Amino acid sequence: MRKKSRFITLEGIDGAGKSTHIKKISDWITNQGEEVVCTREPGGTPFGEKLREMVLHEKMDIMSETLLMFAARNEHIKTVIEPALNQGKWVLSDRFTDASFAYQGGGRGVNWDILTTLATWVEARTPDLTLLFDIDPTIAQQRVAQSTAQPDKFEQEQRYFFDRVRNAYLERARNNPDRIVVINSAANLTDLKTTVINILNERLA
Ligand SMILES: Nc1ncnc2c1ncn2[C@@H]1O[C@H](COP(=O)(O)OP(=O)(O)O)[C@@H](O)[C@H]1O
Ligand SMILES: [Mg+2]
Repeated sequence: MRKKSRFITLEGIDGAGKSTHIKKISDWITNQGEEVVCTREPGGTPFGEKLREMVLHEKMDIMSETLLMFAARNEHIKTVIEPALNQGKWVLSDRFTDASFAYQGGGRGVNWDILTTLATWVEARTPDLTLLFDIDPTIAQQRVAQSTAQPDKFEQEQRYFFDRVRNAYLERARNNPDRIVVINSAANLTDLKTTVINILNERLA
């Protein structure tokens, strides 16, 4: 019998801990005997990575930014996510549609109805589970500041921008309580790893 594929997404503001946890989650899936494709947004395809460069580093109108995000997402879904799921693989994506509601919606003020319409256009399959790494932007910024990488356009935004992004993420979670699990990402790493594995065991094993 064909195993059921699953689509899992990780969300949260920059510095929340998504990249830190993705390997463990991918290992957990492999240990279930499943094949997993790890991917990310914006990006995930050669075309999407070019758009990522533009979106993260060039100034543009917010609707242009929004449409580019969804263009990249459409390509990502059609060429990576859907084919993998159709082959029975699991897909683990570092950010997905919730991020557009958080960043373009909450952060930049794009109307949620527009985002919902765009999401309905491109999103063939809603994630089965979304882990929202929730954290105070001040703590997240301190964590990011300790890494040496050059900050991108979003990472240079001020605290109030990330407050809006965080609140929009939490609103998405309130509106989608069965899908989105909110994780307190201010906790220490050892506890967090246990929390994440417990959620996976409860929801997906
Ligand atoms: N629970 C934690 N406690 C302390 N530092 C953490 C924790 N989780 C992540 N970090 C650190 O914070 C920084 C940002 O984490 P990262 O996983 O890159 O965030 P994201 O991918 O969500 O932007 C990294 O340097 C990481 O090592
Ligand atoms: Mg990351």
